[in-house]
Amino acid sequence: MNASLVTRRIFAALLLFTAAAAWAQPQQAQQGFEPHVGQEGKDVVWVPTSQALVDKMLDLAKVTSRDSVIDLGSGDGRTVITAAKRGARAMGIEYNPDMVELSKRNAEKAGVADKVKFVKADLFETDLSQATVITMFLLNTINMKLRPKLLDLKPGTRIVSNTFTMGDWHADETATAGESEYYNTALLWIVPAKVEGAWKLAQGELVLKQTFQMIDGTLKSGANSTPITKGKLRGDQIQFSAGGADYSGRVSGGAMEGTVKTGGSTAAWSATRTKP
Ligand SMILES: C[S@@+](CC[C@H](N)C(=O)[O-])C[C@H]1O[C@@H](n2cnc3c(N)ncnc32)[C@H](O)[C@@H]1O
Repeated sequence: MNASLVTRRIFAALLLFTAAAAWAQPQQAQQGFEPHVGQEGKDVVWVPTSQALVDKMLDLAKVTSRDSVIDLGSGDGRTVITAAKRGARAMGIEYNPDMVELSKRNAEKAGVADKVKFVKADLFETDLSQATVITMFLLNTINMKLRPKLLDLKPGTRIVSNTFTMGDWHADETATAGESEYYNTALLWIVPAKVEGAWKLAQGELVLKQTFQMIDGTLKSGANSTPITKGKLRGDQIQFSAGGADYSGRVSGGAMEGTVKTGGSTAAWSATRTKP
């Protein structure tokens, strides 16, 4: 099915949901705020992620009690609450104050009120630096606006999106869940360390070019220049091959170190940055 047909079907489904909810509203008004699918949000309407996909998104990001999770545009709080049930510290950023109050009530009912925080705020103005995991169900355009800020987060920070992509920053992993054919895909990105530039190592000079998590370049040793192949970053973990040797290691600011396998032998290697 082509993309525009999918988009039209999604919008048609949304319109149907919205119309049904509008019809149902007068009966709900007496009982306080009830969200309806398709209701207006500041930058994107509210459509909840299915619980199956929430679980899959948190699985893909391997969320544990050591994590600090932020859901951008947290809706009724389901992702935050599910993360808290896994023991993580979890915070929801939501612009609609009614949704924020609803999330707090939902957290209370789920018995995790003391483990979560819901903040009425604009996701574009929120400090994300403390998060180890960011979850979102927004739009491609919003993801692209957020992308520079996300790429500047600590290497290794995991970002999981329901369905929407990050342009030419391709996902490290994807998975699907749930019965619906819409909004059933989780995409995971791991913020890569920044390695572009020149590095000095015992084997020579390494000159790296970086496109998000992909790297290429050359390893220069005397008059020899060998192309880098299979270069990849996963957070602060780096791997590449050059001249028949397979390098793997860890990047920490201006230094890298690890092991290099050549034929049957393994040795240690390290490098320091000489030029950004
Ligand atoms: C598609 S819903 C996703 C809700 C929830 N994350 C989920 O997956 O079930 C997007 C949510 O973002 C909220 N939102 C839209 N623009 C926002 C903004 N600028 N700042 C914070 N929240 C926003 C909407 O009110 C809505 O609740």
